[in-house]
Amino acid sequence: MTFLNWVFPALVLYFLSLTPIFSFSTETPNGVSEIPKKFLNLAKKSEVSDWMVNIRRQIHENPELGFEEFETSRLIRAELDNLGISYKYPIAVTGVIGSIGTGKPPVVAIRADMDALPLQEMVEWEHKSKVPGKMHGCGHDAHVAMLLGAAKLLQEHRDELRGTVLLIFQPAEEGSGGAKKMIDAGVLKNVDAIYGLHVHNDLPIGEVATRPGPLLAGSGFFNAVISGKGGHAAIPQHSIDPILAASNIVVSLQHLVSREADPLDSQVVTVAKFQGGDAFNVIPDSVIIGGTFRAFLYESLRQLKQRIEEVITGQAAVFRCNATVDFLEENPLFPPTINNKELHGHFHQVAGNMLGVHNVKEMQPLMGSEDFSFYQEVIPGYFFFLGMRNNTRGNLPSMHSPYFQINEDVLPYGAALHASVALTHLLQHQSKILLAERKHHDEL
Ligand SMILES: *[C@@H]1O[C@H](CO)[C@@H](O)[C@H](O)[C@H]1NC(C)=O
Ligand SMILES: *[C@@H]1O[C@H](CO)[C@@H](O)[C@H](O)[C@H]1NC(C)=O
Repeated sequence: MTFLNWVFPALVLYFLSLTPIFSFSTETPNGVSEIPKKFLNLAKKSEVSDWMVNIRRQIHENPELGFEEFETSRLIRAELDNLGISYKYPIAVTGVIGSIGTGKPPVVAIRADMDALPLQEMVEWEHKSKVPGKMHGCGHDAHVAMLLGAAKLLQEHRDELRGTVLLIFQPAEEGSGGAKKMIDAGVLKNVDAIYGLHVHNDLPIGEVATRPGPLLAGSGFFNAVISGKGGHAAIPQHSIDPILAASNIVVSLQHLVSREADPLDSQVVTVAKFQGGDAFNVIPDSVIIGGTFRAFLYESLRQLKQRIEEVITGQAAVFRCNATVDFLEENPLFPPTINNKELHGHFHQVAGNMLGVHNVKEMQPLMGSEDFSFYQEVIPGYFFFLGMRNNTRGNLPSMHSPYFQINEDVLPYGAALHASVALTHLLQHQSKILLAERKHHDEL
């Protein structure tokens, strides 16, 4: 375990013995370790949890795609106004940055993503998406509600913040790299650390899962147009068939992982899109294919990108077709999500205090990706999954399914974890400074 893991409680106890600061915990010597539980109890109170449920349902009914989250953003700002929390807007088109605390360093950020998916909701319920073909099928509606919940908890305890908490409401997580635009707009300036979470359908409620180091893969997307020459399906000699060319391209792309990659360096290449032709007796002019590639090492991602282009153009040429490959530069390569080891120590402690250490699980890395990784390239960052399966109510469909559902009981957990991690992060930072000052004093 990291240094901070064992030294943190000692430092904070020492600090608290000097200056009682945490109004709902100072009498007891282990007050800091009780902050997470107290925040969870507060978040479960109906005035907080019902309020979050209501926000989540409003957002769920009105899903908006990346960089179009205007109403979602408006709702967030209205709630921040109600809470008396100042914010900056617009950042990266629809992004909002709230700020609670002293307005001075240290600064810790907590983040939620706001965008929905181009997916038709198939769940019949009172708060079903009102927008055809758009759905919060990845839980970002819940992420926003939980971050607002944390804002409410922290604002109620703002006098106990030893620094500043930034609330990052970010657009366009699903492929467009909204995080990168937020960073380009300067949101991480003077920020010491950032935490983020994602709901998980297959993890029990009351549990969290994560790991130090690599957690999620880096990823990129490609789109290719294979051009041939259309004609009568019964007279193939007069056409150049892009369907056959594209089919061979799909097969050839499978070799990149099975034959060219180190078997111990996990990688994925998936062709998820194949569009061409719409008649039984016509060879089409062209076919469009597209997909994604994943890896944990940046070098492997770069290599996959180069080889995908070579295989597509080379294989198209074998079939006398031309191909153009587009890596959708407006959707930048996502870096891998790599959790900072010191922050892991801190998170483990806080989540353990709230949920019990046996409910803080270490998970295997996943090939999924998250644009949270852009933040982690710039400052120490930490990402974790928050369970929401309740066995007495059966299984929840997976993320990105048109049947995806949120167990709304998860909202208080997310809000309390965000708030506790941020508040204690600032306390920990303060106690480090105090110890350094004390050491300096002793040396004089
Ligand atoms: C491929 O590109 C070349 C050069 O532009 C062109 O002459 C040829 O007709 C193209 N072939 C197809 C099948 O589009
Ligand atoms: C799981 O669901 C049951 C039945 O709805 C409920 O009583 C229980 O409180 C839920 N458990 C958690 C941890 O939310």
